[in-house]
Amino acid sequence: MTTVDILDSITFEAGFPAMARQQGEAVGTVDLLANLTTEQRAATRDLLDTTGSVLFRGFGVRTVDDFERTAQGLLGELAPYRGGDAPRQAEKGFVYNAAGPSPSRLLRAHNELSYAPWHPTTLCFACGRPADEGGATTIIDGHRVYLSLPAEIRDEFRTKGVTYIQHLPNDSGDPSGIKSWPETFETDSREKVMELCRSSYTSAEWTDLGLLTTNRTPGAVEVGSDHRMAWFNQAHIWRKDESVTPDVTNMDRWRTRFGYGAMFGDGTEIPAEYIEVVSQTLIDCTVPVNWEAGDVLLVDNRAVMHGRLPFCGPREVFVAFA
Ligand SMILES: [Fe+2]
Repeated sequence: MTTVDILDSITFEAGFPAMARQQGEAVGTVDLLANLTTEQRAATRDLLDTTGSVLFRGFGVRTVDDFERTAQGLLGELAPYRGGDAPRQAEKGFVYNAAGPSPSRLLRAHNELSYAPWHPTTLCFACGRPADEGGATTIIDGHRVYLSLPAEIRDEFRTKGVTYIQHLPNDSGDPSGIKSWPETFETDSREKVMELCRSSYTSAEWTDLGLLTTNRTPGAVEVGSDHRMAWFNQAHIWRKDESVTPDVTNMDRWRTRFGYGAMFGDGTEIPAEYIEVVSQTLIDCTVPVNWEAGDVLLVDNRAVMHGRLPFCGPREVFVAFA
């Protein structure tokens, strides 16, 4: 076991995630992470660059206020969840509840906002209260996923990329559960949304029903100072079964229905067999992080995917983006 002393009062053990613990008199100091010096923050960032994820255990971060200070200390300025598909309420400022919908269901591996033209580089989670049963946040090493996939599949995703399609309703409360465009982009202004979308998405148009966008992105990205390739897409979540979303590559068909979809970046269909192989590989590479109250978890959003196991009982996990 390697221990790297970067900060006087914190030691780091290599692993996935790397484990950080307070030492000596600092144990139990809630604000230690909130008050990192620029040097210490850079050292933490370097460690994240190598490991992809760091778990700070025993730092006593339990409340929204504790977490906001901690996340700002680790990440600097926090970012909004603009453009995201998940129902998510801000707890305070840009601090969100990471509980997610449907506690009884597995939240599948994803990179945050990999389908959007922008995405956070780093995620910070903290646990105020673990669930009574289950509820681990999962982390999935994107480089391991990339290497584990058959060359044929990863090469097609890497060379063609993925185009994500979303058709968002004007009004919230659609029975399908899909967020409206004002909820998604956190504004009611058609002008502002179209300006944002035209300058960043591959295409954007108003339809009779709402807002239809497409966004072409890479299926895998280079990460870390060693430039390793990491799986970076969530086609396996947006590419629904043919029986649920037929004609996924037909844009005329998309103008008549709401929803999310994914195809290859050249406009061809992603074979269902590929999605099956990718989904199984993600499961095989999943590592659960079993929460203890007060834990803080940093995740490199490009190098490492994340998800959540099903859970019972109340669970309080916060998340912030930068
Ligand atoms: Fe997420």
